[in-house]
Amino acid sequence: MTKKIAVLPGDGIGTEIVEQAVKVLKALGEDFEYEYADVGGVAYANHGHPLPPETLALAKEADAVLFGAVGDFKYDTLPRALRPEQAILGLRKNLNLFANLRPAVCYPELVSASTLRPEVVSGLDLVIVRELTGDVYFGTPRGRREAPDGPFKGAEEGFDTMRYSRPEVERIAHVGFRTAMQRRKHLTCVDKSNVLETSQLWREVVTEVSKQYPEVKLDYLYVDNAAMQLVRAPTELDVVLTGNLFGDILSDEAAMLTGSIGMLASASLNEKGTGLFEPSHGSAPDIAGKNIANPIATVESAAMMIRYAFHMDEQADRIEAAIRKVLSDGIRTGDIWSEGCEKVSCSGMGDAIRAAL
Ligand code: NAI
Ligand code: MG
Repeated sequence: MTKKIAVLPGDGIGTEIVEQAVKVLKALGEDFEYEYADVGGVAYANHGHPLPPETLALAKEADAVLFGAVGDFKYDTLPRALRPEQAILGLRKNLNLFANLRPAVCYPELVSASTLRPEVVSGLDLVIVRELTGDVYFGTPRGRREAPDGPFKGAEEGFDTMRYSRPEVERIAHVGFRTAMQRRKHLTCVDKSNVLETSQLWREVVTEVSKQYPEVKLDYLYVDNAAMQLVRAPTELDVVLTGNLFGDILSDEAAMLTGSIGMLASASLNEKGTGLFEPSHGSAPDIAGKNIANPIATVESAAMMIRYAFHMDEQADRIEAAIRKVLSDGIRTGDIWSEGCEKVSCSGMGDAIRAAL
């Protein structure tokens, strides 16, 4: 059956990198249909809104969304609701993308690109599964008030509410365990259950859900310790399951272990397991239009798309193998280039991956 892909390149390098991912997908020879729409600053320029109704409708009816990046400094003065970045928040909310998967892989050829010692990052291959629609970012009540008690009673205070419900934790836990089943079958639950009520519930629910996945080895880390382990011994981690706030911070930390932001893919999934697939980086206005961006994060996101949304594991493996082949052949974009390697453009990297495929 034909799979319909909503292609939303967005701003800055978005167009250049998404073009490479589509090039690689087309080379698979599968029955995919591609429908393009504007999103972000370019959508604001053409339709007066960063997430126009036509774009949202397409994203909802498609089998998956392949997203580039949004953001353009020329829109920095717009009211918040019209800024390009609102498009990604609107898509997360409207498509109910509650699960965010961010792999951090250190390819053997790129160990020297990391700021950590090669022996620490060599063999690194983990994925952070972050809950994306709950936690203190969305919890109510929130606001400003006069402090009702405590040593600063009467002073102005800001307050937020951290909340997680049992079904909310259950559904993200299932995503975590299913991901672990497709990998090395090891899941680490990261929370702060020594202090937080939400974390106690979180840990309790994850432990219960784990009984449905007896093959997966489950262990636990407090989030502060997890932050240490990520730089001490990151190769000991496989799947890291955590809430929205902790996941936000840990996923950026994990990203940096690998060296270049141009290598990092992400998937944001809904109940059906489909969703939105995008590189972790932004629109990189400083290098936009120069055909020098690294498209690997976007090509890898496309691989995640066919793996998670279309269950085409074999084809996803082929794309990942092609990326590895190109890297081991010494082909590099500028951000990951080192002495003795061949430097290629953004489209040159897309061509090389297609050829390797
Ligand atoms: P950025 O990720 O766009 O760029 C940070 C640095 O990394 C820049 O020096 C850039 O040239 C480099 N870089 C990023 N991607 C690269 C690639 N594929 N290849 C080579 N180098 C790459 O982050 P920045 O500069 O903070 O934000 C720029 C715009 O992107 C802003 O408007 C921001 O709001 C937006 N943004 C959008 C995101 C999204 O669409 N999901 C995520 C993050 C930022
Ligand atoms: Mg972040």
